[in-house]
Amino acid sequence: MSIPADPADRTPRIVRTAAELSAAMAQAIEAKAPEHGTATLGLVPTMGALHSGHESLVSTARAQNDVLVVSIFVNELQFNDAQDFARYPRTLEADVEILARAGADIVFAPEATEVYPDGRPLVRLDSGELGSKFEGASRPGHFDGMLAVVAKLLHFAMPPATLGVPVSYRAYFGQKDAQQLVLINRMVADLNYPVEIRSVPIIRSAEGLALSSRNQFLTGEQAKAALVIHRALVLVKERADRHEPLYLEDAAGLFDMEPLVELDYFELVDPRTLKELAFNCQDTPFTGEGLLLVAAKVGGVRLIDNMTLGY
Ligand code: PAF
Repeated sequence: MSIPADPADRTPRIVRTAAELSAAMAQAIEAKAPEHGTATLGLVPTMGALHSGHESLVSTARAQNDVLVVSIFVNELQFNDAQDFARYPRTLEADVEILARAGADIVFAPEATEVYPDGRPLVRLDSGELGSKFEGASRPGHFDGMLAVVAKLLHFAMPPATLGVPVSYRAYFGQKDAQQLVLINRMVADLNYPVEIRSVPIIRSAEGLALSSRNQFLTGEQAKAALVIHRALVLVKERADRHEPLYLEDAAGLFDMEPLVELDYFELVDPRTLKELAFNCQDTPFTGEGLLLVAAKVGGVRLIDNMTLGY
């Protein structure tokens, strides 16, 4: 199904195929380009089930680009648990309403057969050592599958070469998925993609819980218990801001007081390489830059969060 754009309302145009996407982008860019002789195109890849975190991603991209494409595709390749894939919420109608409010021009919502016409791709991207630690350790294959689809989405939304106007192409990802962001930056650099990757800060609930599509699976009690994640991050951040030793182990000890929350990792890493930095500040004053990564299970729900230190 393809819905034509109606200039009288803000409903984005919904396209299902790569060819429809190219045509819709060309039309939208041509409509904008005469204003400046150049144009900017933003892509926000998502798996749908949109929440305020996505809305902020989309609003940021909206403000920075002439034409805005949002993709919605639940990518089976990045789920290592079939049940998790099956129960992932599919809420296209509600998502389109959010995207209309946030000002998307085009929604690209392909079927799996459009993205992977021959089934699972034969040639794979390998996220290497970086993709097998932290989230990769508990979700084997997740980052390879994520890179496979992001590589394709970046191609699908690439500004059509026939346009005759220079188009700056940007793609937007949330800082909440820090490891995903680092890997996408690496892939784009390693494979010379002509796109600029821009990151958008984490959006939190008033109490501090990082927004995630998974939060809807938490009971009220679990959501309250999960706030320990933010407390632990803030405790370390405050120490870093005062240039004190970070005492990570003692901050991680906060999790022992929440029986509903099972800590997986709480690690200080280099923000660009995700190499562990724990040596630099256990007992000595913190200097420089770091990224504190955390993952925990609350009930059956895996939550991740992070905070930058020293910025
Ligand atoms: O972060 C996500 O929602 C997904 O991993 C992404 C980048 C859309 C790829 O499927």
